[in-house]
Amino acid sequence: MQANVNFICGEKDIASYPFLQSIEHFASIHFVYEGSQAVFLVSLNDEVHSHESIKVMAGNLRKKVEEYRINKLEVSLESLSNYISSLPAEDTIKAFFEGWYLAGYRFEHYKSDSQSLDIDLFYEEDYRELEEEASKVTEAVCIARDLCNEPASNLTPATYGQKLINIFQDTMIDVTILHEEDICDHGFHATYHVGKGSNDTPRVALLTYHNQGKNKMALVGKGVTFDAGGINLKQANDIVDMKMDMGGSAAVAGAMKLIESMELPVHLTAIIPLVENIPSRTSYLPSDIITYQNGMTVEVGNTDAEGRLILADGLLYAQNQGADWIADIATLTGSIGHALGLKVAGLFSNKLESLTEYERISQETGDHIWPMPMVKEYKGLLKSETADIKNVTSTPFGGAITAASFLHSFIEKDVKWYHIDMANTVKPFEISGYYVEGASGFGVRLLTELVKKEVE
Ligand code: BES
Ligand code: ZN
Ligand code: ZN
Repeated sequence: MQANVNFICGEKDIASYPFLQSIEHFASIHFVYEGSQAVFLVSLNDEVHSHESIKVMAGNLRKKVEEYRINKLEVSLESLSNYISSLPAEDTIKAFFEGWYLAGYRFEHYKSDSQSLDIDLFYEEDYRELEEEASKVTEAVCIARDLCNEPASNLTPATYGQKLINIFQDTMIDVTILHEEDICDHGFHATYHVGKGSNDTPRVALLTYHNQGKNKMALVGKGVTFDAGGINLKQANDIVDMKMDMGGSAAVAGAMKLIESMELPVHLTAIIPLVENIPSRTSYLPSDIITYQNGMTVEVGNTDAEGRLILADGLLYAQNQGADWIADIATLTGSIGHALGLKVAGLFSNKLESLTEYERISQETGDHIWPMPMVKEYKGLLKSETADIKNVTSTPFGGAITAASFLHSFIEKDVKWYHIDMANTVKPFEISGYYVEGASGFGVRLLTELVKKEVE
């Protein structure tokens, strides 16, 4: 069945639909018949429209269209952009496509019946290119969503590595997968320790994209394919979503795909340690001491604080490669959700100058972050009796900050380092707008725009 979309805004428009008393709220959607023509009325009010509000509107529209099983939809994107005075027309139209396609995503590989609906969207021919740009973004976000949604027994370090090879074949990105035997030779000592409890042995994925660029940049993503906590086994409730403990690495993989498809001029390496953290006879133990590639030693106070251990390997590797701008991203601490709630990830850095700008960029992408403080006094909380530092503190307070402090101890002074704790945003805050059940795909758009900002 076919339908049209009418955007309505202001008193005059409302007057032609007597059943509408007023515009209830932004992007409320009504399904009506005008003669024999099925129409979705989308109300736009006079508030300042952001990129995100257009994406959310398009996502809600798509869901409504699916609900009515409409498979052909005609929309005038020009009329939409004319109504939205707060954004350039290009931005409005790209945002519309982004919300539209993200809302159409379903993870259905294991479902007997498909719920998703192919909808032919008819819009002005001139906007074809904008659609292509937006669909590059949504495809990359959905790479991350797919990886996160995959059950852990089917996304092991080995199969994850193979998936990365498949994703990046026919691109300008080279993928190297280091196997268990090689990872220590390449300096990933902690990754080896954390991974040695599992029969699904650890891997490290190295992705390089070399397309000019004065500076070397690096992305490091936590790739814990399942976090049972290890010997410090998690409790029932805490373990539920731990197949998504590789959300940071998925964000990095998606961002690499998007950066490559945008052909950004940058020399960029992605470093993804891949492990499964489970208890077994061969698991690493509390009290173990890990000697890092740079000679630093770390006492394992708790095997469930594994993310920071493997990220540190990645940070050292990035610096050895000469990276002077590094962003790491990880589902690192439950604590970040206590600090910020479930919609905004935490951003930590040793360079405070860019934080406000990065926060602004994040609002535009829809992957929201908020600056968190590094408190140098908290470093003392990581003191160890037997090693240089410990991977946990004994206080229940400030866990996201102490985790960031741990990572900071591996960073050289001149390197610009950004740490994003996304434990609270790997799943959507609510299933509305362009979010659907399952993973959010958080971080793909954000990392891409941060890299883009740095090379501009
Ligand atoms: N993967 C978890 C963090 C997490 C929690 C991610 C909730 C997503 C949702 C991480 O490895 C972890 O277990 N962190 C511990 C650290 C603690 C042992 C110091 C935590 O946050 O409780
Ligand atoms: Zn853990
Ligand atoms: Zn974890």
